[in-house]
Amino acid sequence: MLKRTFVKGLGLAAATMLLGGTALAQDAFKVGLILPMTGPSASTGRQIDAAVKLYMAQNGDTVAGKKIEVILKDDTGAADQTKRLAQDLIVNDKVNVVAGFGLTPLALAVAPLATQAKIPEIVMAAGTSIITEKSPYIVRSSFTTAQKAVPIAEWAAKNGMKKIVTMVTDYGPGIDAEASFKKAFTAAGGEVTAEIRTPLRNPEFAPFLQKVRDLKPDAMFLFTPSGLGAALMKQVAEREFDKAGIKVIATGDVTDDDQLNEMGDSVLGMVTTSQYSTAHPSPENKAFVAAFKKANPNLRPNFMAVGGYDGMHLIYEALKKTGGKTDGDSLVEAMKGMKWLSVRGPVSIDPETRDIIQNIYVAKVEKVDGELYNIEFATVPDVKDPVKAGK
Ligand code: PHB
Repeated sequence: MLKRTFVKGLGLAAATMLLGGTALAQDAFKVGLILPMTGPSASTGRQIDAAVKLYMAQNGDTVAGKKIEVILKDDTGAADQTKRLAQDLIVNDKVNVVAGFGLTPLALAVAPLATQAKIPEIVMAAGTSIITEKSPYIVRSSFTTAQKAVPIAEWAAKNGMKKIVTMVTDYGPGIDAEASFKKAFTAAGGEVTAEIRTPLRNPEFAPFLQKVRDLKPDAMFLFTPSGLGAALMKQVAEREFDKAGIKVIATGDVTDDDQLNEMGDSVLGMVTTSQYSTAHPSPENKAFVAAFKKANPNLRPNFMAVGGYDGMHLIYEALKKTGGKTDGDSLVEAMKGMKWLSVRGPVSIDPETRDIIQNIYVAKVEKVDGELYNIEFATVPDVKDPVKAGK
């Protein structure tokens, strides 16, 4: 009798636990976060992971009655891994959203899976314009490289540069940077006298830089993805372009805040364009940088961190707006046209392209309290992706 009661009691407890488990699973909202946590783009992974954790620490982990659960996976920066991990997250973990994507090929590899599964793919890092056209479920919280290349071309033309050589990393965002720079610079009366492309993997910049020096343009325009800037700028310093009268300009991906301090004083005065600087002087950014540094003592946030932070904001706000409805169509619809004050400045999601519309700042490297920063000195407001705008 006693034994039977015990067994019955256990059965009930087990059943309650099971039910509880089911209820919990139903209330969970899962984000599959795929980032390069190791390999050449590990800084992108580290920055975005830290920003996602900070956003959740500041905003709680429950939204519209759902418990937000982030499942982090390391794709090492290899597209076949990204695809395999996304598949696994969608099929086995049943994630509601996939997010991250440190490089263009990684974002592209998952586009067909997002379409098939009808779940949002939040691109927090990659910057080739075409990405958002590859699935109606892609929403981008980062940038496009064309967004930054056009304002620096216009700035160069206005500041007396007439002949420029471009040197970019040979894949999607570099090719976009090269084409957009040339179009804008030519339209403003300048001339691109040579276009050089360097390999993405293990680049040896020296022979390319020597070629630029021999060509003697007024300036050299550079693009490399986040993580490669320090290696590039060391080799640029060795060639003493200033002594040859050749100015060096770039997108802010090169003078990346994550690596800027390693680049040395030779980058002082270098002008770049970016959607974000650690030194962006708004109260929102000051609070963000302070909290980020407190949580990650040896790290200062770069533009990748902000893409991750705003990507989480998009997910949280979309879920609030749908009142907890989790289907991909409702979430993407809720993200379209969303506007907020980011730590980078005012931003919105273009309802037509699902790209981010944002300010682009022209900045100059300066030393402040012994550290190098990109100090913004001019703003081009509300820049849309120029490629999709036909510019
Ligand atoms: C990209 O692969 O799209 C990419 C990565 C890092 C950048 C810019 C673009 O800084």
